[in-house]
Amino acid sequence: MDSSEFLGFLRTRSSVREYSDDELTSEEIASVILPAERAPSAGNRESWDVIIVTDESVKEGLFDAAYQQQHLLQAPCVFVVCANYVRSMSQYGERGAFSMRCRTQRLRRPI
Ligand SMILES: Cc1cc2nc3c(=O)[nH]c(=O)nc-3n(C[C@H](O)[C@H](O)[C@H](O)COP(=O)(O)O)c2cc1C
Repeated sequence: MDSSEFLGFLRTRSSVREYSDDELTSEEIASVILPAERAPSAGNRESWDVIIVTDESVKEGLFDAAYQQQHLLQAPCVFVVCANYVRSMSQYGERGAFSMRCRTQRLRRPI
């Protein structure tokens, strides 16, 4: 992909909040997760964990935690990205915990 194709791709990107009922295959899940592993991270600590949720009762808990956003219940599979304090602190001590808290709070604000 050259730079103009990449810029064209970015211009057409948008959020999707309606999903089919089809379950994702493990290959499809891997095709989302593996490129995300290439994301840069402070000190290369990769201070995150991704929890893949398909269980309906867990999705209901996420729905409540996320201010009742309906699409969380509709999605057949939800990727929960968690800050990993321990990994960040192993490199940066308290400073690492602070940066994780900032990011988590920003993500917690309702849209
Ligand atoms: C930090 C962050 C948090 C977001 N949280 C939510 C969310 O809780 N629910 C949601 O439906 N979209 C969420 N979004 C997506 C934005 O609402 C969306 O990107 C924005 O409305 C622009 O629309 P677009 O992605 O279609 O261009 C979030 C985006 C960011 C960057």
